[in-house]
Amino acid sequence: MVQLSSDWNNEAYVSLHLVQPMLEMAGLPRKSSYSHWIPEFKVKVPKLTANSQIVWTQKEVDFLVEDLSRYINFLVEIKTAKTRLDAAARIQLETYLKYSNTRFGILIDPFLVEIYEYTQGLATLKCKHNIENPEQVQPVANFVRNFLETVKMRTIAIYTAKGGVGKTTLVVNIAYELAKIGNRVLVVDLDEQANASLSLGVNKADELDNATNLKEFVQILDSLKERKELINFLKEYDQPGFKPNEYIQPSALNKILSLHNQTNGKIDVLPSSYQTTDSSILSLGLYCNKKLDNALRKTGLSKEYDYVIIDTPPSLTAVSQNGLLAAQYIIIPSQMEYFSVYAIRRPIKNAEEIHDDTDGRRGNILGIIPMMVENVNLHTTIKSLVSKVFKDIPLLPEIKRATAVGQASHERKPLSLFAEQNRGASSVATQFSNLTKQIVKQIDHLERNSSK
Ligand SMILES: Nc1ncnc2c1ncn2[C@@H]1O[C@H](COP(=O)(O)OP(=O)(O)O)[C@@H](O)[C@H]1O
Ligand SMILES: [Mg+2]
Repeated sequence: MVQLSSDWNNEAYVSLHLVQPMLEMAGLPRKSSYSHWIPEFKVKVPKLTANSQIVWTQKEVDFLVEDLSRYINFLVEIKTAKTRLDAAARIQLETYLKYSNTRFGILIDPFLVEIYEYTQGLATLKCKHNIENPEQVQPVANFVRNFLETVKMRTIAIYTAKGGVGKTTLVVNIAYELAKIGNRVLVVDLDEQANASLSLGVNKADELDNATNLKEFVQILDSLKERKELINFLKEYDQPGFKPNEYIQPSALNKILSLHNQTNGKIDVLPSSYQTTDSSILSLGLYCNKKLDNALRKTGLSKEYDYVIIDTPPSLTAVSQNGLLAAQYIIIPSQMEYFSVYAIRRPIKNAEEIHDDTDGRRGNILGIIPMMVENVNLHTTIKSLVSKVFKDIPLLPEIKRATAVGQASHERKPLSLFAEQNRGASSVATQFSNLTKQIVKQIDHLERNSSK
């Protein structure tokens, strides 16, 4: 540890020489179109008086930083070389995070920086970094910037130009595997067939199942007209008083997720219906292809979700274009048959164009998933053909054809849930789980390399 001058015992000095330049260097300017600081931010906290009354007192936190591009807020509390950060400071930060409803907190002194996340009543240490020399701000800024990159919402579109290849099955299962391990997942259904919305138990799926005649069926469909859904979300997101929760619905799996896995993990759905058509998108006017991207960024959803999984229709229309332009990552499922392989050339080209047009911020192809694979020579041959023809694109772990997939979808269950009662489904359930792990691993890898 370097010998520090007594200046570092002074909080204002630490703020001016370490914290403020650190925030600037981490890409969070004091005042810009995408971030700003609120110094001496006031938080009201309750205090117990001598006669057991609760009174509210006002405390000041050194900074509240609002990161508008990621839609993350965090508090910064500064300590000094003399009054270093300790257990009391950590408890205090937890209280401030709780009562200011802020997700992240940074505690910093000239030797150490710690980052906390507040969820479910607890502030958990996410990461820490020993500061070798507070005169050198860059390594501290890099540490904070790298952390911020990991908390941003990840958006993935499942896309190909062909129907019936298992896109929706992938969306539902990947969403469940992610939620099972604590991720908050938003499924955006862009397909007018609304299979993902139905599979996840929104769109009155139960009522439709129980309809006894066509008239009842049509009545239920008509009642959906009143409901706010994807198309309304895209129309209304920039209007005053817009509340995302009026459009987004919890999936029927959330109860099971919280009981079974005891995590914060959940799946919410931005549902579609037969109203999600190309003409309704085109009627949104100028930049109608970028509506979903803008809406996801501007409505503060990255505070609420870790992953957005987008189910796209099997066409190259304004609807699917919205999905692709909103997605950092694209996954292309394909059956291992000649025609299917031809069908992935266009989506790949389309994704690559988007990648180039957006400086790599959108349209990164994570890989091709061989779907409904059987142990036949043809599938093996085509798999090796695919890896040769598209040699720059990884082949992700395959999903084998299994009757359990249809059975599980009939019960509106993801496979790993279905497999709990049906042992025959466990092999394909494991395939979905391994596939999801591989997807996360690849994204982690890409993000680590891009933040260097
Ligand atoms: N691995 C699989 N094995 C057997 N059937 C599958 C498999 N994956 C999907 N299916 C079935 O194929 C059909 C089409 O799947 P779906 O996910 O709806 O495709 P898409 O969204 O691409 O149109 C569904 O009936 C589904 O149950
Ligand atoms: Mg589908």
